[in-house]
Amino acid sequence: MLVSGLSAAFGALALPIAAAKSLWSDSPGNYSSIITTAFPLGNGRLGAMPIGSYDKEIVNLNVDSLWRGGPFESPTYSGGNPNISKAGALPGIREWIFQNGTGNVSALLGEFPYYGSYQVLANLTIDMGGLSNVNGYRRNLDLESAVYSDHFSTGDNYIEREAFCSYPDNVCVYRLGSNFSLPAITFGLENQLTSPTPNVSCHGNSISLCGQTYPSIGMIYNARVTVVVPGAQNPSDLCSSSTVKIPEGEKEVFLVFAAETNYDASNGNTEASFSFKGENPYMSVLKTATDAAKKSYSALKSSHVKDFKEVFGKFTLTLPDPNGSADQPTTELLSSYTQPGDPYVENLLLDFGRYLFISSSRPGSLPPNLQGLWTESYSPAWSGDYHANINLQMNHWAVDQTGLGDLTEPLWTYMAETWMPRGAETAELLYGTSEGWVTHDEMNTFGHTAMKNVAQWADYPATNAWMSHHVWDHYDYSQDVSWYRQTGYPILKGAAQFWLSQLVQDEYFKDGTLVVNPCNSPEHGPTTFGCTHYQQLIWEVFDHVLRGWEASGDDDTSFKDAISAKFSTLDPGIHIGWWGQIQEWKLDIDVKNDTHRHLSNLYGWYPGYAISSVHGFNKTITDAVETTLYSRGTGVEDSNTGWGKVWRSACWGLLNNTDEAYSELSLAIQNNFADNGLDMYGGTPPFQIDANFGLVGAMISMLVRDLDRASADAGKVQSVLLGPAIPAAWGGGSVEGLRLRGGGVVSFHWDDDGVVDSCRVDTSERGSGSQLEFFVSGGKAIDCS
Ligand SMILES: *[C@@H]1O[C@H](CO)[C@@H](O)[C@H](O)[C@H]1NC(C)=O
Ligand SMILES: *[C@@H]1O[C@H](CO)[C@@H](O)[C@H](O)[C@H]1NC(C)=O
Ligand SMILES: *[C@@H]1O[C@H](CO)[C@@H](O)[C@H](O)[C@H]1NC(C)=O
Ligand SMILES: *[C@@H]1O[C@H](CO)[C@@H](O)[C@H](O)[C@H]1NC(C)=O
Ligand SMILES: *[C@@H]1O[C@H](CO)[C@@H](O)[C@H](O)[C@H]1NC(C)=O
Ligand SMILES: *[C@@H]1O[C@H](CO)[C@@H](O)[C@H](O)[C@H]1NC(C)=O
Ligand SMILES: *[C@@H]1O[C@H](CO)[C@@H](O)[C@H](O)[C@H]1NC(C)=O
Ligand SMILES: *[C@@H]1O[C@H](CO)[C@@H](O)[C@H](O)[C@H]1NC(C)=O
Ligand SMILES: *[C@@H]1O[C@H](CO)[C@@H](O)[C@H](O)[C@H]1NC(C)=O
Ligand SMILES: *[C@@H]1O[C@H](CO)[C@@H](O)[C@H](O)[C@H]1NC(C)=O
Ligand SMILES: *[C@@H]1O[C@H](CO)[C@@H](O)[C@H](O)[C@H]1NC(C)=O
Repeated sequence: MLVSGLSAAFGALALPIAAAKSLWSDSPGNYSSIITTAFPLGNGRLGAMPIGSYDKEIVNLNVDSLWRGGPFESPTYSGGNPNISKAGALPGIREWIFQNGTGNVSALLGEFPYYGSYQVLANLTIDMGGLSNVNGYRRNLDLESAVYSDHFSTGDNYIEREAFCSYPDNVCVYRLGSNFSLPAITFGLENQLTSPTPNVSCHGNSISLCGQTYPSIGMIYNARVTVVVPGAQNPSDLCSSSTVKIPEGEKEVFLVFAAETNYDASNGNTEASFSFKGENPYMSVLKTATDAAKKSYSALKSSHVKDFKEVFGKFTLTLPDPNGSADQPTTELLSSYTQPGDPYVENLLLDFGRYLFISSSRPGSLPPNLQGLWTESYSPAWSGDYHANINLQMNHWAVDQTGLGDLTEPLWTYMAETWMPRGAETAELLYGTSEGWVTHDEMNTFGHTAMKNVAQWADYPATNAWMSHHVWDHYDYSQDVSWYRQTGYPILKGAAQFWLSQLVQDEYFKDGTLVVNPCNSPEHGPTTFGCTHYQQLIWEVFDHVLRGWEASGDDDTSFKDAISAKFSTLDPGIHIGWWGQIQEWKLDIDVKNDTHRHLSNLYGWYPGYAISSVHGFNKTITDAVETTLYSRGTGVEDSNTGWGKVWRSACWGLLNNTDEAYSELSLAIQNNFADNGLDMYGGTPPFQIDANFGLVGAMISMLVRDLDRASADAGKVQSVLLGPAIPAAWGGGSVEGLRLRGGGVVSFHWDDDGVVDSCRVDTSERGSGSQLEFFVSGGKAIDCS
């Protein structure tokens, strides 16, 4: 049994062996609650959510760059930056804080006019009139091929519809087929929500929607639907006012949908006067749609499926199905899911998390925002923006480990093009430094990098350091030196330069260390100095600069010397407080049983590594992490967020605490995941995609502990723990294609108790670094060669 399971697991390493995973249901979604019921499709830039209605189908459409605000609303938009320097206030702020322990940054706050918002593009409407005697309905989203379909019979007809969003062809495609005769169909594009209302017109077999987010200077957006009747001599004009009408009697009809805006982030800099403007997208959309419509449906589908499967298949988790869940509609499984859990659902949601990432992050797109790229709303919660004091980070937690590292290009481009140019100004105007860049937690797509005046959470300047951790991780897993030199290192260096300029001697404790002043822990507590979270982050930034020095190709030795000098006296942010907790601030002021949703003081435990590295991995430290986690509660207490729970789960996983890790994971699924598998912020809409991605990170932290710096010095052995916290419910499962730090890929299988019993490592892509050594829960070494 075990042997055959193993040979099945390892016989076909390159191919997924698990049965295709799908979301499915026997009833359509709900017009009034698209975001909790529709199954999402995307190709990185375009998003589509078919609701599945039999006769009056609606597909909610998105294009990821469609934002109002910024320079598309005000020609003098400054990213929130003030028109004169405010940095003169800093010495006073610092002095006050060092005298009193806490203080404020009122003098640095700014306005944020024209911040703008992400918004819905349109509805595609597919009207087949009234259908009678509909039965046998089912809809299905295959996560492995990213093809959606539904089918039903009505009268003599069996009707099947299929949709996908293709990265290779840059379009979404929707097909209707019948074994007999399709009814008359009317296709339309509409946006009932946007003001000003876009123009919709029909020419030949195409509908074009042209809009502008604001009179005269607004962002221009264009969407086009081109309808094709295969095999038929398409009549030259299928238009009826602004819709396309196909008369009754066809067996097959399909359409392609293309859309773009005139947003261009490569013009988000001084040379381009921060215009962010590109060309009117009309001609480009016309060409994309026309080119795709010339291809056959099967050609469009096969290139899409090939492309998607190749990426999706790089990693496979196979968990058992003890509850016999595979036969039940996933919408029902999700709505009735309760603790202790169901491995089938957990496996499905891990697959769905990877599916969503592939569908919302492709070279050329923007990175996934708070909602990935899917919204049905004109004003999504928090503008559908980029929060980067946990959320944008969590979106990228497990991407490199699960084989999706090649899809991270949008993140680096977004940071380099929209944050760094304006953020260099912000560094100068608010912090008085001409080196490096900074930004503050909440970002739009137009370079908003300054502080806001709304609340403490918008004053958070450590985003640059935290995102630099992702830069390092991408390099560490990929070992792509040329990427590091050209793309990664400049981001990291700019963050390091900024923090070099901001560190000051601790004048409160006068302990000879360097600290940040002012700082605040994300969305929590006072403005003070030496915040744990910042100190850990900066410690890691400096550590990465030094460890990656050779790879960076940098010859700026004065920079390196400055980093080395300050690294040695930097407070690394690990203080154990009066009740045994990892302090959140250098002042020992943590309140016991404060159940705040963020775990900012545990950044260096997960996803970072400062807590487990600075003093080594010792019991004093791990006890303090445990005390802190217990004190923080389950994540239900403060806002009941999905991301708060999966973060807790990931931290417990690395503590080998299987029960707590699995409990938090299953609690998140039970409380926060809607019937269509999307994560809802506090259990009900708004949708917030971070926990969909964070769930993958949490599950991976239960499967492997592969810490950064585990082998900091070349020649040392990199110790990888397989299966720190695999629940017995997952017994007999396996994983294939898990990527390792320093390069390489490991696959392994575990027994009924969750203890890894066999493994295989492929080190052919490994960099020249250290030796690898594997061990399993309980501490026994295992040979994976
Ligand atoms: C559809 O969603 C609305 C809004 O959430 C809800 O009131 C209604 O009951 C739902 N309809 C069905 C059939 O579930
Ligand atoms: C600078 O900005 C302030 C605050 O927004 C404004 O009141 C002032 O008029 C601006 N000054 C100039 C010269 O634009
Ligand atoms: C904020 O801090 C400044 C010193 O930077 C101080 O003068 C001011 O009184 C403080 N304001 C409040 C409301 O505490
Ligand atoms: C000094 O700090 C304490 C908290 O440590 C705060 O309650 C108090 O308001 C501060 N005093 C002033 C004058 O800001
Ligand atoms: C189409 O398929 C349906 C369902 O299988 C069947 O009932 C119907 O007879 C078929 N129609 C034709 C014309 O073959
Ligand atoms: C799409 O259609 C639904 C159902 O009619 C409607 O509630 C929604 O406002 C429409 N969305 C847009 C963008 O027009
Ligand atoms: C919509 O049509 C009106 C009237 O032709 C025109 O003035 C306007 O510019 C058009 N809007 C867009 C966004 O193309
Ligand atoms: C799955 O089966 C286990 C063991 O029988 C049970 O405890 C659990 O409640 C089931 N989970 C669901 C979601 O039905
Ligand atoms: C363990 O960590 C604690 C807390 O930082 C530190 O004080 C201690 O020296 C470490 N113990 C060992 C044995 O390294
Ligand atoms: C309070 O925190 C402590 C850890 O300091 C923990 O052991 C205890 O369970 C917590 N109590 C509650 C009610 O959460
Ligand atoms: C987890 O288990 C491994 C293997 O027994 C051990 O090396 C490690 O120290 C444990 N971690 C913690 C936090 O106890």
